[in-house]
Amino acid sequence: MTPDEFRNAGHVLIDWIADYRLRIPDLPVRAQVEPGQIHRSLPEQPPQAADTIFDLLADLESIIVPGVTQVQHPMHYGWFPSNASLASVLGDIASSGMGTLGISWESCPALTELEEVMCDWMRQLTGLGARWQGTIHDTASTACVTAMILARERASEFSKNGAGLQGVASPLVVYSTAQAHSSIAKAVQLAGFGADNLRFIDEDSYTRAMLPEALSAAIRQDLEAGRIPAGIVCSVGTTGTTAIDPVKDIAVIANQHKVWLHVDAAMAGSAMLLPEYRHLWQGVEQADSLAWNPHKWMGTILDTALFYVKDVEHLVRVMSTNPTYLRSTADGRVTQYRDWGIPLGRRFRALKLWFHLRLEGIEAIRERLRRDLGNTQWFLEQVEAAEGWEVLAPVPLQTVCIRHVPKGRDNQPITGEALDEYTLDWVGRINASGNAFLSPSVLDGRWMVRVSIGVEETTREHVARLWELLQASISSHVG
Ligand SMILES: Cc1ncc(COP(=O)(O)O)c(C=O)c1O
Repeated sequence: MTPDEFRNAGHVLIDWIADYRLRIPDLPVRAQVEPGQIHRSLPEQPPQAADTIFDLLADLESIIVPGVTQVQHPMHYGWFPSNASLASVLGDIASSGMGTLGISWESCPALTELEEVMCDWMRQLTGLGARWQGTIHDTASTACVTAMILARERASEFSKNGAGLQGVASPLVVYSTAQAHSSIAKAVQLAGFGADNLRFIDEDSYTRAMLPEALSAAIRQDLEAGRIPAGIVCSVGTTGTTAIDPVKDIAVIANQHKVWLHVDAAMAGSAMLLPEYRHLWQGVEQADSLAWNPHKWMGTILDTALFYVKDVEHLVRVMSTNPTYLRSTADGRVTQYRDWGIPLGRRFRALKLWFHLRLEGIEAIRERLRRDLGNTQWFLEQVEAAEGWEVLAPVPLQTVCIRHVPKGRDNQPITGEALDEYTLDWVGRINASGNAFLSPSVLDGRWMVRVSIGVEETTREHVARLWELLQASISSHVG
């Protein structure tokens, strides 16, 4: 494709994207396809001849669009918001269009230096101290694997340079809670600690926040048994209920035992753009590493995960590689991001943040977050005031965990498996209808429903419509 052919096809595609975004509210929220349907619609053999952009767009429309769950839909309340601001989409297109290669500072100085500046702008915008230095990963999962490797290498005195963990006499232990995202357990396993060496510390039965005294006790027990406490992962905004572990108290314990403290604020990081919410991660300055996803609520399209550390020297010592073919005269004077994480090659992700911040403006972003927090409080009030509905966890941010408990034939509230069946039935009907989408999830062994508010297009009217849908869905079933 020549640049002129690209120009023509590109204009057609941009028009298509703009029209597509406009009609998202008319599409079903959850993809209405059967497993394998998309696969079967595609030719088994690759094409032999080139197609036109119009042929391709026709297939995009007829085959691909039906297979997209519309997370940009204003009635999407599932998982967590995964906003993709059109400003950041432009940044993504600019990144791809320039076709840069990020393997060293020399391979694209602008990629390195814009990333430095974006991480620092984001540090300032979330009120973090100047000692934090950041980089952009694809996801919070990769950031957590990196953090766990940093924890392992600090506690094992750089075992990677010798026999690795196989040469360490005592097991290294990591602490978190059962509420932490599944990526935490995965990171602990992939970093070589082993699932047996991940301790789930007791939580408060209502807030689901880690109990610092239980953490202290577990560390003491491990020390007495000759094990080595190596890492703590503190969740600020868990996936299930947005529970907030007490970072300040946990940091005191981490520092006392010289244990690496990683803060996972994948979702809640966006709230830290609002000064009035920063008390939620009070103590964060005492942590060793921190990750959050602007690609969630803040709206900088996937994949934009920020990873910060204070001790860059340790990070580089663990991650550094220095093959001769990548050496240049700039070495020692520039940041080499290949030494700040696992991959060598990197995309020009900072452009997404740059476009997002410059074209949206931080105050508009903050206003949107405050709108969502206000809508969440409104929704919470409706649920709390309605008979038969329960709110199951505190609501520090924009996710409300609910259940409806109807009375059975004996006029007593239904319980146990009957309640599970009932919950999955009403939420399943809403999701299947395509009118809205919510994530059912298990809390304390029973199904409940998470309502996560924060899609860019979701207004108070949409939230009010959701509340009507919920009530209609249960009233058509009760009895
Ligand atoms: C609290 C929390 N941590 C980590 C993750 C993993 O995020 P990612 O998809 O960027 O790996 C999620 C995903 O929703 C999350 O909610």
